[in-house]
Amino acid sequence: MLSTGLLKSNSLYAQAARNAAGAAARPVAASDRVRIGVIGPGSRGKELIRQMLRVPGVEIAAVADVYEPRFAQVNELVGKTVPSYKDHRQMLERKDLDAIVIASPPFFHAQHVIDSIKSGLPVYGEKIMGFSQEDNYNIADLVAKTGQIYQVGHQMRYAPWFQESVRRIHQGEIGEPTHIYAYWFRRDNWRRTVPNPSLEHLLNWRLYRESSGGLLEELGSHQIDVANWIFGEHAQTVLGTTSIVLYHDGRTVGDNVQAVLGYSKGRRMVFSSLTDNAIMGDQLWIYGTKGSVQLTVEDATFYGEHRKTITAASHSNAVQRGLKTGASYQVDEEMPYRGPGDRIDGSKDEDPTLTACRSFVQCVRTKTQPFADVHVGFGAAMPCTIGKNAVFEGVMKDVPQMKTDAV
Ligand SMILES: NC(=O)c1ccc[n+]([C@@H]2O[C@H](COP(=O)([O-])OP(=O)(O)OC[C@H]3O[C@@H](n4cnc5c(N)ncnc54)[C@H](O)[C@@H]3O)[C@@H](O)[C@H]2O)c1
Repeated sequence: MLSTGLLKSNSLYAQAARNAAGAAARPVAASDRVRIGVIGPGSRGKELIRQMLRVPGVEIAAVADVYEPRFAQVNELVGKTVPSYKDHRQMLERKDLDAIVIASPPFFHAQHVIDSIKSGLPVYGEKIMGFSQEDNYNIADLVAKTGQIYQVGHQMRYAPWFQESVRRIHQGEIGEPTHIYAYWFRRDNWRRTVPNPSLEHLLNWRLYRESSGGLLEELGSHQIDVANWIFGEHAQTVLGTTSIVLYHDGRTVGDNVQAVLGYSKGRRMVFSSLTDNAIMGDQLWIYGTKGSVQLTVEDATFYGEHRKTITAASHSNAVQRGLKTGASYQVDEEMPYRGPGDRIDGSKDEDPTLTACRSFVQCVRTKTQPFADVHVGFGAAMPCTIGKNAVFEGVMKDVPQMKTDAV
């Protein structure tokens, strides 16, 4: 159902690279200036401002936030007083904006994205695309109807070592990828210090179900996006479970999550997140019929799974006087492969968020659709939108699919 859109997205590898390179070129003519308004310049929003300011020709022209302390922080970051608004709709009335960056909490994304697009402006919208099933459909429908530029904040699509790995996987280097195990382990209780109890839900929105899909949505969505990219389709089912092991502090989302997403032909993606142990960090293992890939935030390693070299000692344990001793497993077949891998080093590459910003700016200038488009946003969002309930209820649910391929 989604293949057209996904293939279209995949064919945009080269375009994403060209866009990023184009936006890096100097000098920039006055007519190429891109004036950006930012909705929700909190933690991520300020990082996006910092990265956008590294793109030649970009100006942060206005910001909107319901929390006033953000304005002084933005002024300090930008180095001048940026016009500020407590209501994003007033900011959208300005006639001098070329694009909007949205980094508000997820349950406001649909409202902010839809208002911005209806104002005629391209949008860089942070993940997760929509907080509810209806939000995802409403954004997808509006983008399809208007043809407006909408780029979602799944920046790993712009990481060269991710792009190269996916290209090699699609070329068959590890055979058919059948399973993806994604880990996001950290030591972090997610709680922010609140200066006044009335600000608890505004600042700690991640901890409550009414405003957050928890670890699946906040962390898993990035890895689900990579699984969609590799499998070339969106997940069809999701089941999951969560609990609170450590942080019994009034939060209503879990501090660990395990989810299993189903794709066609029985393929599976397994997501596991812990917040009390960081050993696995943020990584995906892609298991194929002929090999495996470990994909991390700084590199990718391909393992061809050659047969283990059998040592005389281990073999003689299994066979004596010409007879097998009945061992149910053979060391040479069952031991994990421990040979060297073929590593792609991404640690020297530019921050993928900067590349994503450059690419977005170039899409605005050239009026072209981004690589991380609405298909990407929808495909990562819907399993989380549905999956968070599967996780909270400990059940399996079907994931609704996109209605249209018209974008
Ligand atoms: N792509 C990534 O790697 C990445 C990383 C971190 C966060 N994020 C995403 O960015 C978004 C923001 O996360 P954060 O950690 O910056 O949260 P945050 O709480 O630090 O920032 C959110 C900002 O939005 C403001 N806000 C809340 N309601 C608003 C409204 N109605 N109108 C305008 N502003 C409003 C808040 O006051 C705050 O300044 C989330 O969707 C999160 O998932 C993405």
